[in-house]
Amino acid sequence: MAFATRQFVRAASSDAATAAAKKLLIKHVTIIGGGLMGAGIAQVAAASGHTVVLVDQSDEILKKSTKGIEESLKRVIKKKFADKPEAGVEFIKKTLKNLTTSTDAASVVHSTDLVIEAIVENLEVKNKLFQTLDKFAPEHTIFASNTSSLQITKMANATTRQDRFGGLHFFNPVPMMKLVEVIKTPMTSQKTFESLVDFSKAVGKSPVSCKDTPGFIVNRLLVPYMMEAVRLFERGDASKEDIDVAMKLGAGYPMGPFELLDYVGLDTSKYIIDGWHSLEPNNPLFAPSPLLNKLVEEKKLGKKTGEGFYKYK
Ligand code: NAI
Repeated sequence: MAFATRQFVRAASSDAATAAAKKLLIKHVTIIGGGLMGAGIAQVAAASGHTVVLVDQSDEILKKSTKGIEESLKRVIKKKFADKPEAGVEFIKKTLKNLTTSTDAASVVHSTDLVIEAIVENLEVKNKLFQTLDKFAPEHTIFASNTSSLQITKMANATTRQDRFGGLHFFNPVPMMKLVEVIKTPMTSQKTFESLVDFSKAVGKSPVSCKDTPGFIVNRLLVPYMMEAVRLFERGDASKEDIDVAMKLGAGYPMGPFELLDYVGLDTSKYIIDGWHSLEPNNPLFAPSPLLNKLVEEKKLGKKTGEGFYKYK
């Protein structure tokens, strides 16, 4: 019995070693989209020793992204290198040395190991980008999308590398939030999946794995919860203020659902729920809300416009 167990352990560890040997060690990363998420991902990737090219539509946008990264790094070193300011300055220098920018994605993907897409949340635009990059990126390159609500499988199908395609869902603000959801479609190979998990760990995050299902883990639970809070309020069962207080004091959440909706943006929340509703029209968890629709129509989008469920002026 002991012999059989030893044999099994040996076989299992040699299987693991073979799988590990096949994994792709990601060193060169191309990030498309230098907005809120793309800039954050570029920062953590460069800070952890990867060579990073950040791509966006204009030099002006990229200048803004780089400035934002520099400011964010200064905040990081204040905490991380509080008692060693020179080491902090060196850390920023090294990180920025790892980071370059470009406005031409096709011309920079020729030697990249991983492309992470963080552009506008629009399937057609994302598919067009992936289709183009598929022609220019090397065979081994893995493609990943940071989408919050679109199907990774649909994007993978726009390319010829379905097995080297997955989701890498980071959270905002990227330098602070520890979680990454690594999304495996039915076509994602084990090697690709493991490479994405390793990359997530290498940039200092804690990866969790999920199939390509609407909202993955976090948003699948969070969005219907916020919509249910809106429905509770719509029915007049409780005020939005009391619902927020209840969830903070009763469930220990740092924000109430209406505060969170205003923080995320009502347009973003509506976009997500409308997309899921069209996929599963009979799912009551994905039912649209007349009140949310009305606020979006009135351009009351939350904190960013000064008013949503609450006023911020
Ligand atoms: P954003 O609007 O801040 O940035 C998007 C950037 O992509 C812009 O700078 C834009 O100029 C650029 N862009 C658009 N089309 C492009 C193209 N064809 N080529 C190159 N650059 C292009 O958006 P954000 O918030 O960073 O979101 C990006 C993605 O990340 C979306 O898919 C979103 O669903 C997802 N996401 C957003 C989160 C959030 O809290 N904002 C959280 C997790 C995921």
